[in-house]
Amino acid sequence: MNIVMAASEAFPFCKTGGLADVVGALSQQLGMRKGNKVILFLPQYRNLSRVASLKVVPGVYLIPIGGRIEQVTLSYINWGTVIVFFIGNRKYFDRPDLYRTKAGEYPDNDERFILFCRAVLEGCKFVGFRPDIIHCHDWQTGLIPAYLKTVYKLDAFYTRTRSLFTIHNIAYQGHFPYSAYEKAGFHPVDYTPDKFEYYGGISFLKSGIVFADNVNTVSPNYAREVQNDPAKGFGLEGLLRFRSKNFCGIVNGIDTEIWDPETDPILPMGYDAFEFQRGKTACKMALLEECGLEQNPQKPVVGVVSRLDYQKGLDTAVNVIERYKGRVLFTILGAGDPKLEKAYQELARNNPSCVAYRGRLDEELAHKIYAGADLFLMPSRFEPCGLSQLIAMKYGTLPVVSRVGGLADTVKGYPASDATGFFIDPLTENGICAALDTALKAYADKKQWFKLVKNAMAADNSWDKSAQEYINLYHKTII
Ligand code: ADP
Ligand code: GLC
Repeated sequence: MNIVMAASEAFPFCKTGGLADVVGALSQQLGMRKGNKVILFLPQYRNLSRVASLKVVPGVYLIPIGGRIEQVTLSYINWGTVIVFFIGNRKYFDRPDLYRTKAGEYPDNDERFILFCRAVLEGCKFVGFRPDIIHCHDWQTGLIPAYLKTVYKLDAFYTRTRSLFTIHNIAYQGHFPYSAYEKAGFHPVDYTPDKFEYYGGISFLKSGIVFADNVNTVSPNYAREVQNDPAKGFGLEGLLRFRSKNFCGIVNGIDTEIWDPETDPILPMGYDAFEFQRGKTACKMALLEECGLEQNPQKPVVGVVSRLDYQKGLDTAVNVIERYKGRVLFTILGAGDPKLEKAYQELARNNPSCVAYRGRLDEELAHKIYAGADLFLMPSRFEPCGLSQLIAMKYGTLPVVSRVGGLADTVKGYPASDATGFFIDPLTENGICAALDTALKAYADKKQWFKLVKNAMAADNSWDKSAQEYINLYHKTII
């Protein structure tokens, strides 16, 4: 099968969150399976990692946008089983960050991703790759299914091509004024509520949901929530119910080449479920030292690695952490909402021996926290899937999570005999405390704790099963 993946980020090239991990790992998984040819399109941002040997496809091609014509270049890299094409346009992508500055979203994000979507479709022609399936991820690629069903409807190159649209997070919708509809070049006749129209403007996410041949999201439970709970569907629950026959949930996996405590080169000592204690303690002591916390291996360490965003519920945890000082050590890595960053800075300043906070993106420190902590806190208000809890389990760090979205699908709650973590229910300050108290009690009983650790480390969250589910869905989509 010829597969095109289209996304605005993919690890290890550019990343702001779990979307990048999923696009990178899934592309490789698909490419490794016999009979698949996979190419991945990404924007050529300024600060790409691991692209030292980028090659250039000779020539340029043209994309209409508004009343103008933009030039686009393609550069590429052979990355394992996948060819990654970077769509180049300096005006739109040669910028310090992916989507925003500290002051807010780039005001021309509509144009940037109109260009990207159309450049993927023209790019396939430019390199002569006729896709059976174009797998689009999140709002930034939502116009691709729409173009296929409108502007490219009679294009012979694409007669056999079908699209799958994956929603990684329905809270981000790419909602723009009507002018974006005009710039994209769709015909006015399609500007109706059942197609493009959205509160007088255009939503790229809605467009993807309406026009894709199949739609999915990243866990079965989130797929149910976004259809039935208005607080989780963010206005699109009716449309998703309307498309329910073509809408399903496929849970994410993690890349076990990157996330494996036995072989992780960033850790001071590797460990597995059988040789657990020595390695875990070495990682814990190194983490405490690096973070300047009390060097006491007896005290439980709670880790956080997260975007600081309303979604993640970490505003609810600030006061909770104060209540545990002296008994528990906290290491928090997270950037985002400036107010929350400040609150955590202050918390760490006031409690220097038991709370450490780092407000940046730091892959290495993330590995060290997953390995060095005993518990991993994730009080999300909603969570399409969540990768952090999967990584934490793999590292024998038990997740303490709210019972929402993919967290409910992937964590088995204590006291079940096969428990792998703890549920916060309800999601309030007291709810977090109750879950932490239960977890700390279990931690005090070493025999019981190791049983839980073994359960968590044995959970299979690799991509094997989910990548096969995607392939099955592609087959269903193209017949
Ligand atoms: P989301 O995509 O909503 O942010 P996920 O749990 O799916 O949540 O994925 C988050 C990914 O981003 C994980 O790989 C996590 O380790 C990583 N991450 C989040 N914040 C940071 C940070 N400050 N530094 C390094 N990695 C981070
Ligand atoms: C989004 C979601 C997260 C999910 C990730 C990858 O960023 O917030 O829950 O794991 O996408 O699908």
